[in-house]
Amino acid sequence: MSFLRSRFVQAVVVLIVCFVLFRFGIQPPAPWSVITLYMAIILIAILAFVSSDADSWRSFLTPLRDTVVKPERRLLRMVLMIVMPLLLGYYAYTQAAAKPQAPPELRAVHPAPPASIQFRGKEINIQGIDNPLRKDQSAFKQHVAAGGEIYIRNCMYCHGDNLDGQGHFAHGFSPPPANFVDPGTIAMLQEAYLFWRIAKGGPGLPKESTPWNSVMPAWEDRLTEDQIWQVIMYLYDATGQQPRRWESH
Ligand code: HEC
Repeated sequence: MSFLRSRFVQAVVVLIVCFVLFRFGIQPPAPWSVITLYMAIILIAILAFVSSDADSWRSFLTPLRDTVVKPERRLLRMVLMIVMPLLLGYYAYTQAAAKPQAPPELRAVHPAPPASIQFRGKEINIQGIDNPLRKDQSAFKQHVAAGGEIYIRNCMYCHGDNLDGQGHFAHGFSPPPANFVDPGTIAMLQEAYLFWRIAKGGPGLPKESTPWNSVMPAWEDRLTEDQIWQVIMYLYDATGQQPRRWESH
């Protein structure tokens, strides 16, 4: 066991024991950055210790120097000269290689609406229809006011009291609730499109909109046909946006 008296062997043993302790002795496992930091501190401590007096320092360096210059260590030297660059190269490769990543969620935010939907047992055309409540201009204010109440009761928690998608619950959801003030939402859509989305919600989205994790509820069992048209009128009135027209108009 005389080789255990060599400073170099002692240093290596201490390093290995410390590494095993840090890696497997800490629960829950310490992150690599912490282990690397601890190992660097241990290495500095060992170097300080072995270099504390001249004999110990010489004893520490002897095996290193022997490996570099002694003829009988030629084989070891050659092996090291091949293995060390390979290890370094492998390390550089693992750092530079592209890491596998989850694919970005590609989701059609505004998929094409169906031609028609079933609403409480009645077929409602989505393609080409306009908001029927807009025909009677005199009732406009009334409908918007009713729509505002419906909004505050049902939609505000997610879509926000400023209609900007910043409701109380908004931060818990991905995708986030639509921001109606943003020109990329209702301003680009026909009212009939909104009718479909409000009636059928997240569950009614077609395949292009997967992943299906929209929390937008389906309102068809809670709001009547007129109530949905009213809340739509409120959305446009409150944000100052205009609904998109069907091309033929
Ligand atoms: C539980 C939260 C929640 C509530 C309550 C909610 N929504 Fe939504 N809504 C969402 C989320 C999330 C989205 C975005 C994902 C999507 O398009 O399905 C959304 C999307 C929409 C869209 C589609 C906008 C676009 O650009 O395609 C409309 C319209 C809409 N909501 C209207 C309403 C109305 C009207 C109400 C109330 C009657 C309401 N929402 C209530 C969460 C909610």
